[in-house]
Amino acid sequence: MDKLLIEGNGPLTGDVRISGAKNAVLPILTATLLGSTASRINNVPHLNDVTTTMSLLGRMGCQLTMGDNMQVEVDPSTINDYAAPYDLVRTMRASILVLGPLVARYGQAEVSLPGGCAIGARPVNLHIEGLRAMGADITIDGGYIRAKAGRLKGANIHLETVTVTGTENLLMAATLARGQTVIENAAREPEVVDLANYLTAMGAKIQGAGTSTLVIDGVDDLYGTDYTVVADRIETGTFLVGAAASRGKICVKDTVPSNMNSVLDKLTEAGADITIGDDWIELDMHGERPQAVNVTTAPYPDFPTDMQAQFCVLNAVASGTSKITETVFENRFMHINELQRMGADINIDGNSVTIKGVERLTAAPVMATDLRASASLILAALVADGETSVSRVYHIDRGYERIEEKFHQLGAEIRRASD
Ligand code: UD1
Repeated sequence: MDKLLIEGNGPLTGDVRISGAKNAVLPILTATLLGSTASRINNVPHLNDVTTTMSLLGRMGCQLTMGDNMQVEVDPSTINDYAAPYDLVRTMRASILVLGPLVARYGQAEVSLPGGCAIGARPVNLHIEGLRAMGADITIDGGYIRAKAGRLKGANIHLETVTVTGTENLLMAATLARGQTVIENAAREPEVVDLANYLTAMGAKIQGAGTSTLVIDGVDDLYGTDYTVVADRIETGTFLVGAAASRGKICVKDTVPSNMNSVLDKLTEAGADITIGDDWIELDMHGERPQAVNVTTAPYPDFPTDMQAQFCVLNAVASGTSKITETVFENRFMHINELQRMGADINIDGNSVTIKGVERLTAAPVMATDLRASASLILAALVADGETSVSRVYHIDRGYERIEEKFHQLGAEIRRASD
C-alpha cells in the first residue's frame, strides 16, 4: 500500500490548477445512462472514484472511450445488465447514483446497499422513499435494493433531510417520469446544479436548480450530449487552507469563486488577504499566522462538511481558541486522534471540537481514515516539524487528482512511497 512522506517546510507558494469536481462527475457519469445516445464528458478528473464508476458502467455493458484530454465518452445503448454489485458499492458509496437512472430508463435495478461508513450510518432511505413515491416497486433483500417499475410518474416529494445524492437520484429519475415532479428541501450544492445543467443539455425540463425546490417536467427521451464538468470547490478549498495554515501565498486557477463564499469568508476571518478573478482565487497570508475561526458545517450555501477536517488543521496552528461543530455527519472526527498525535491541542465533545492553536505541529506516522480526513493530514504535515508519513493513501486517491504533484508544485516536499 502506498504512503505519502511529507517534510514540513515553510509556506506554500505558487499557482495550482483545479480539476473537475468529484461530486459532480460521479452523478453526471451515471446520468449518461438516461440518454438514448452517447455523451462525451470533459474535464473528468483522474480519480479512483471515477475509475470505479467507469467499471460499474462497463460491467453493465456500456461502451466507454477515454479521450486524450480528460474526456470520457459513454455509450449506454449497449447496456445489458442493471446491477451495482457489492464489491464496487463497498469501495464507493456513490454507486447508489445508478439507482435513479436505471429505474427511470430501464425499469429495473439491483444495487447493493452501501452499508456503514467511516463517517456515520449514511442511510439511503430518502432515495428509496422518493422512488417509491414515483411508482417504483422496491424491496430490500439480501443486502440489495431491488427495484422494478413501469414508466415512473411525477410526484411531490418533500425530503425530510437535505441529501445531496438523494436529490440527484430523484432528479435523474424524474427527468423521464410521466408528468411533473416537485422535490422540496432539495440540496442546493453546485454539484446538483451541474448535474441539472447536464440533464438540461440532454433535453430534460428542470426549473429551480440551486434553490431548495426543484420542478421537473418529465420528457419521453433524453439524448447524449457534450458536457464539461464544473471545477472542484473542495479541492480548491483544500489548497487555500494549506496556504493559509502555512502562512503562504498561492493562486488557485480554473475554479469557480462564486461557489466558494462560505469558505472564503472563513479564510478572510482567519486573516487571509483574498483576491478573486473570473476563474481564479489568490490568497496571501503576508507571512502571518492565521487567527482561529469558529465553524459550523451545514448544507450549501453554508459551510461544507467536506472542508471541516481541513479547518481543524488551520485552527490547530492558529492563534487563539476555536470551536468546530459538525451537523451533517456523525462520527466525522476520525482525523482528530491523528492530529492529537501530531501535537494538536483538541478536545472532542459530542459533535463539536474545541481547538487551542499551537505554533507548530510535530511530525508523526499517521493513518488516513476517509477522504477528507486524509487531506487534513497532508495539510497538518505541511505545518509540522520533521517528516510525516500518511499511510492508507488510497482514501485520498479516491478524490484528489495527482495530489503530491500539485502540492509539490506549490513548494511542498512530498513524495509517494510503498510500504
Ligand atoms: C454527498 C457528497 C459528500 C458530502 C455530502 C454532504 C457525493 C458523491 N458525496 O454525500 O462528499 O460530504 O454530500 O455534503 O456527492 N441522509 C438520510 N437519508 C438518506 C440520505 C441521507 O438520513 O436517504 C442523511 C445522512 O445520514 C447525512 C445527511 O443526510 O446525515 C446528508 O447526507 P447526504 O447529503 O445524502 O450525503 P451524500 O449524498 O452521501
